[in-house]
Formats: sequence, C-alpha cells, structure tokens
Amino acid sequence: MNILHVCANPKTTEESVSKQLAARFFGKLMELNPDVELNNIDLYQEKPPYYTNDLYRRMWNPVFDVNYEPSKAEVAAAHYATKQADLFNAADVLVLTMPMWNFSAPGVMKAWMDQVLAPGFVFELTEDGPKPLHNITSLILLVASGGVYKEDDERDSLSTQIRAAFSYIGVNDIRVAWADGQNKITNSDCEVRREMAFDAAEELAEELAEESQD
Ligand SMILES: Cc1cc2nc3c(=O)[nH]c(=O)nc-3n(C[C@H](O)[C@H](O)[C@H](O)COP(=O)(O)O)c2cc1C
Repeated sequence: MNILHVCANPKTTEESVSKQLAARFFGKLMELNPDVELNNIDLYQEKPPYYTNDLYRRMWNPVFDVNYEPSKAEVAAAHYATKQADLFNAADVLVLTMPMWNFSAPGVMKAWMDQVLAPGFVFELTEDGPKPLHNITSLILLVASGGVYKEDDERDSLSTQIRAAFSYIGVNDIRVAWADGQNKITNSDCEVRREMAFDAAEELAEELAEESQD
C-alpha cells in the first residue's frame, strides 16, 4: 500500500489534536501492516505557491488547444504542481490531516488542492467528464475542530469541499475521523470526544489493513 499523507497544521503533534489523530491512525496501521510505503508532505515545510496566470496557462491551455506549447515561465510555474502530482499519482491511499479553520480547510490545504487537482496532472478532462490519471481508491480525512458538528451540518464547508473536489476526480471512498468539540471552554466533554475520535482513527487503520490483505 502506497500512502500519501498531506498535513496542513503549523502546530507540533503535542499541541495538535488532528496531528495526534494522524499519529494514532499511522501507529495502528504500521502495527498491522508494516509494508506500508508512506510519503509525508507537511504543507508548512513545503508551502504551495498561490496560483498564477502562468500556472493557469500551463494547466488549462492544453485542455482547449492541442497545439499549445508552454513557455519556459509557464513550465517553471508548474514546478511545485508537477512534483506533488507525481507523488499523488504514485499513491493508492490519500490521508489528509488538518484542523477546521473558519468552517473550512486551512488556506495551505486549499492552495495545495489548487496546485494538484489539475487536468493533465491527476485527471484527464474528456467529453464524458473527468477521468482519473491517478490510482487513489480511498481518502482518509483526519480533522479536529473547536465546535461540535452534527452529520451534514450546513456550517461544515470542510468535509463538503473535500468530498466534492475528490469525488470530481474519481475518489468516492472518503472516510472520516473527526475530533470535534475540542474547545474545552465550551465543551466539557472535549476529552471524551477526542478519545472517541482516536478510536475512530484506529478503526479506519484496521479497516484499511484488513482490506490490503484481501
Ligand atoms: C484560525 C482559526 C480558525 C478556527 N475556526 C474554527 C471554526 O470555524 N470552527 C471550529 O469548530 N473551530 C475553529 N477553530 C478551532 C480549531 O478547529 C480547534 O482548535 C482544533 O482543535 C484545531 O485542531 P488542531 O488541534 O489539530 O490544531 C479555529 C481555530 C483557528 C486557529
């Protein structure tokens, strides 16, 4: 199993609940399936650049113009995207770790998605819609939030966005472990909630390990 783990959190693991979820998930997975090949991308170490017009042309002009030849500046603008897309296309499982910020994903995660989820890089845009160029079959989403969110909570733009963006490119198996209610001022049960999420993360690892034996 080749896993790409993308983490958007500037905190240390000691300070971060979502990073602790990831530690539980990978701890259990490695215990059960030591053959896992793991690529870690810390988006605070490898910051994605913001989208530029050169990048736009390099990514989208080929979709509309078969004769398009990128300039040197356009090729250079796609340097980060090319490297990340290679890692993406080598993976069969994607793990995304992040906190909820302003009801959504942190900006660096959105910037990474803008770089990687591009035609000609990880999917092909055909008349029948997007066709995957990648091999990712499952996405594991590990999230922490201060507030409590019920299922399909309309304030939750984070999981909605992840589901929409990744199912668009053919990743429909999306599993979530979410430590919500982590603001201890407003949630006296924050520790119980955290432990429940740790258990959920370990259960996801067990499921994945079992499926990889099939
Ligand atoms: C900039 C910022 C924005 C936040 N916005 C939200 C929010 O919209 N909803 C929420 O429930 N918690 C919000 N929080 C709280 C975090 O989601 C919460 O502290 C969570 O535990 C952080 O995960 P971490 O411990 O992995 O960093 C926000 C925190 C920060 C720093």
